[in-house]
Amino acid sequence: MRKNIIAGNWKMNTSLSEGLSLAKGLNEALKGKTLKCDVVIGAPFTHLASIAASIDTNKIGVAAQNCANKAQGAFTGEVSAAMIASTGARYVILGHSERRQLYHETSETLKPKVRLALENGLTPIFCIGEVLSERENGMHFQVVDKQMEDLFDLSSEDFGKIVIAYEPVWAIGTGKTATAEQAQEIHAHIRRVIAHKYGPERANDCTILYGGSMNAENAKDLVAKPDVDGGLIGGASLSVEKFLPIIEAF
Ligand code: 13P
Repeated sequence: MRKNIIAGNWKMNTSLSEGLSLAKGLNEALKGKTLKCDVVIGAPFTHLASIAASIDTNKIGVAAQNCANKAQGAFTGEVSAAMIASTGARYVILGHSERRQLYHETSETLKPKVRLALENGLTPIFCIGEVLSERENGMHFQVVDKQMEDLFDLSSEDFGKIVIAYEPVWAIGTGKTATAEQAQEIHAHIRRVIAHKYGPERANDCTILYGGSMNAENAKDLVAKPDVDGGLIGGASLSVEKFLPIIEAF
């Protein structure tokens, strides 16, 4: 079944104590509330175990923001999917545009990351999206089609475990959100691409999040669109006051 999800991506922000107090604050704020979406927080690796141990993980899922493309061994500085799962985290954000652009992640590195995440019981939140020049040249559909292909080696069953996050790079951290109509247009396109590959039922069940300057003001319009199933939120996930109204936008 398709799920609504509001996920925070803290990126490289917060000390351990700041992150813990943010997570606990959110946990407190959600107590006793009936939510119309699942809530996820994507924290730095160093914070995962402590956060997972100090919140109600049935209410708030914990996500890592990356994982290694190797299972284990002599890969100094890397963190494996198995290690992430052992912290109590249940999700991993993969292929974020910052990692694609700044750390040169490509299909070659992303495919094993997705596979290892799934093998370790983590839900990948797989990010796709075009840069400004691609949007201006009308290439955005082709760009996401190509990025989606990295998932298409998966069996239909495994594809069913993936969450997609469409994040137009020009809208990330810029205050320039895609309009709800632009988001709906491309989300519907992504769903058609999935339907073409795996059939309409799999496509209909797939959760597709929007990300890029989503906030309390624009969240309602975005999630009201039939193919927008929630959001991946950067800046506005760093305070409970800003994140909570987005969760309540459904
Ligand atoms: P902002 O919400 O800060 O634009 O970031 C979006 C994002 O990159 C989430 O992964």
